[in-house]
Amino acid sequence: MEKAEIHFKNRAQKYNCSSNWVADQELIRLMFQLSEAGPGSEVLDIATGTGLIAKEFFGKVKKVTGLDISPDMAKHATGCMDEIVFAPVEQMPFADNSFDAIVCRQGLQFAELDKAIPEIYRVLKPGGRVVLCHLTAYNETDRELAFAIQKLRNPARRNYLMPADMATALETAGFRDVENVEYLSDESVNQWIDNGAIPQENMDKIRELYRTADEAFKEIHDIRFVDDDIMDDMLLVIATATK
Ligand SMILES: C[S@@+](CC[C@H](N)C(=O)[O-])C[C@H]1O[C@@H](n2cnc3c(N)ncnc32)[C@H](O)[C@@H]1O
Repeated sequence: MEKAEIHFKNRAQKYNCSSNWVADQELIRLMFQLSEAGPGSEVLDIATGTGLIAKEFFGKVKKVTGLDISPDMAKHATGCMDEIVFAPVEQMPFADNSFDAIVCRQGLQFAELDKAIPEIYRVLKPGGRVVLCHLTAYNETDRELAFAIQKLRNPARRNYLMPADMATALETAGFRDVENVEYLSDESVNQWIDNGAIPQENMDKIRELYRTADEAFKEIHDIRFVDDDIMDDMLLVIATATK
């Protein structure tokens, strides 16, 4: 089993409440809107997980396909999509030019980007839209500590993303009209740390990193120590483009 598959096997049960952004309806609706999908669209949701993004499209478009590598996450995705396919994003079992829109939230940090982005380009129809939403660091000031926290949170992560990274990868793959939308999510560390997949040792180290963070990090992330919790304004970047 791949590292990511093991992580999501352990996290699946609690996934739908394992962060504020996970169930954030405003964010989910924004992704739908940016995809420009309509009643005739065939949509692919990459790294669909428990189907929270796919569900927003289900019934509003012609067909929603979810793709993931984790059957454990998919067990919680019942009634969210028309079809689920188990395969890695780096090698998708779809013909060229299959989809009108492709969306992915918080999936490509686990993927080999140099394979995944060309695959997304290949299976999207000419004129089709891609919408990729991922947590990033803000800038060079918070980069080192934000990535250290992400590494302790999920060792299966392959990519530590800066705000421009997905847009650059899309441009390199040949997409046009590439744009970034920034979205802030106020996250409770107590909420996301208790996801079933983080060992106690890593939880302790994460809390210690927040406590000892420099003032610049605390300011950028608007860190607040509230009762026994820590609040962190995290940055999600939604990269959109057209093939
Ligand atoms: C953080 S969850 C995101 C789930 C969903 N997109 C959402 O926004 O709620 C990440 C998902 O990516 C899946 N995943 C990880 N590596 C993958 C890969 N190489 N190909 C496809 N899915 C992958 C995991 O199994 C997991 O379900």
